[in-house]
Amino acid sequence: MAAGEGRRVLVTGGSRGIGRAIARSFAEQGDRVAVHWGSSRDRAQQVLAELPGEGHLLVQADMTDAEAVGAMVDRAAEDLGGLDVLVNNAGVFTAHPPLETSYADWQAAWAQTLATNLVGAANATFRAVPHLIAAGGGAVVNVSSRGAFRGEPNNPAYGASKAGLNAFAQSMALALAPHGISVTCVAPGFVQTEMAREVLDGPGGDAVRAQSPFGRVARADEVAAAVLWLASPAARFSSGTIVDVNGASYLRS
Ligand SMILES: NC(=O)c1ccc[n+]([C@@H]2O[C@H](COP(=O)([O-])OP(=O)(O)OC[C@H]3O[C@@H](n4cnc5c(N)ncnc54)[C@H](OP(=O)(O)O)[C@@H]3O)[C@@H](O)[C@H]2O)c1
Repeated sequence: MAAGEGRRVLVTGGSRGIGRAIARSFAEQGDRVAVHWGSSRDRAQQVLAELPGEGHLLVQADMTDAEAVGAMVDRAAEDLGGLDVLVNNAGVFTAHPPLETSYADWQAAWAQTLATNLVGAANATFRAVPHLIAAGGGAVVNVSSRGAFRGEPNNPAYGASKAGLNAFAQSMALALAPHGISVTCVAPGFVQTEMAREVLDGPGGDAVRAQSPFGRVARADEVAAAVLWLASPAARFSSGTIVDVNGASYLRS
């Protein structure tokens, strides 16, 4: 189904930041969006109220709870009347610098980060696949990170979770292509959201902005634009790709 024809879209982590911008971008195309939230109910309701068009809805699940994720995806597909696009966007970025973190905190950071960023996305994808096949094909777009390639010295579990997400996406691209489903990633550098606020507003903020020759970090709508294209039928043959949105701050070969 093409953009503007009322695609049925599930965006995880749609209550804030990049997910909010992604939900809005799809709605502006005439698509219907299930806005997933975890703990930010009021903010999710506000996102929903601000979406243009009709037929959008909210779904809730803790992304670390496999049963809840499965039920959430089924609920979204049922209430939307099917599913054409899944955007795995929900994620956490919790600092755990290796030389300053207790072993207990290290364990907690790895468990939470992998469960949310990687296993949560894998579970959502698993449960979305039957709905995407029933729709005759579609797209899964994962919100990864520059950190998968550049390294995350203070958040190594985060970098590992996003590298894992890239590898997961590429495996699923191979598995799902025969069903007309593309699986791709977008890999932003720092984006102006709450997740990055502490870094961007802190003493190192200017150095982060200077990493890009544009002299700034990304806006959430710039990430959303890439997601919108990756989810479009025009991008179907680009399945398996990882699109950088980092202002040329990190160029991989
Ligand atoms: N901001 C950046 O600089 C940056 C850079 C590269 C990649 N990214 C990636 O972009 C994505 C969105 O990030 P953002 O900047 O928009 O972050 P954000 O403002 O902190 O929003 C995170 C979103 O993820 C949801 N979420 C987190 N943990 C969850 C859980 N256990 N269960 C359910 N939902 C959960 C939150 O929902 P609730 O609040 O409702 O719980 C929220 O909607 C993430 O995957 C992130 O890794 C961000």
